Amino acid sequence: MRIVGGLVKTRTNEGREGTGAAARARFGFLQLRPRFGRPEENLASAAEAIEHAPEFDVLVLPELFASGYAFRDRAEALAAAEDAEGPTARFLRETAARRGAWLAAGYAERDGNALYNSARLTGPRGETSVYRKVHLFDREREIFDPGDRPFRAVDLRVPAGVLRAGLMICYDWRFPESARSLALDGAEVLLHPSNLVLPNCQDAMIVRCLENRVYSVTANRTGTDDRGDFSIEFTGRSRIVGPDGAVLATAPVDADALEIVEVNLAAARDKRINARNDLWRDRRPEAYRRER
Ligand code: ACM
Repeated sequence: MRIVGGLVKTRTNEGREGTGAAARARFGFLQLRPRFGRPEENLASAAEAIEHAPEFDVLVLPELFASGYAFRDRAEALAAAEDAEGPTARFLRETAARRGAWLAAGYAERDGNALYNSARLTGPRGETSVYRKVHLFDREREIFDPGDRPFRAVDLRVPAGVLRAGLMICYDWRFPESARSLALDGAEVLLHPSNLVLPNCQDAMIVRCLENRVYSVTANRTGTDDRGDFSIEFTGRSRIVGPDGAVLATAPVDADALEIVEVNLAAARDKRINARNDLWRDRRPEAYRRER
């Protein structure tokens, strides 16, 4: 795997320092090109890239990065699906422990007869949370069960203290409610494993960050899953975006990349816009149309 980047960028954002919690954090993405149906090879490529990565606190990998994305049908996805003892979960546990950091990555999750397009977040002591994709895209609707749990943020212990993160997967970007639910639950960063096919997400994440004053890490894949009678092409351009909408790191369209950016979480904790406006205090839920 040829990694471009691997650069540690430092960015200082304005805003209050947090009290007792982590103020500085190093977020990263690994963009790669999974080979469909070759999980051992894909896991080995990811392991090699992470082994040589600079220090990070949280690294995000793409959606379904070990299996590939373009399943023909539910039966094929079920055959590739894993539980908490599967190779992807094991890879995340072992790699997180070895690097002393957190990893988030997408995988096909089997739970009894249910099958989810999930993201698994694992910490250095094996701490784990799983998010099941709520908004299923295109053929996914015939393959996976829709996520059965609400968007929830989780606390991650990192060397500088505690930060709060929220998981969403790929097409969830299209629904502002995904990022907003996580931000209202205290998420300071959106961890966003993706296999993007539409062209707009990378720019939309600037808006998601701006409207919630949070960081985001979108880890996309590159290349094409060519299944003979159909193929799906992915758009690369993984991104890290700041709470002011600034793009802090971006990957090429069609090359492997690993980028890590050091940020100041105070910028995501401070929802003030100016002396009179505060993003959270200014909300007027009573004026918003009821959703149902
Ligand atoms: C997608 O949600 N993977 C397009």
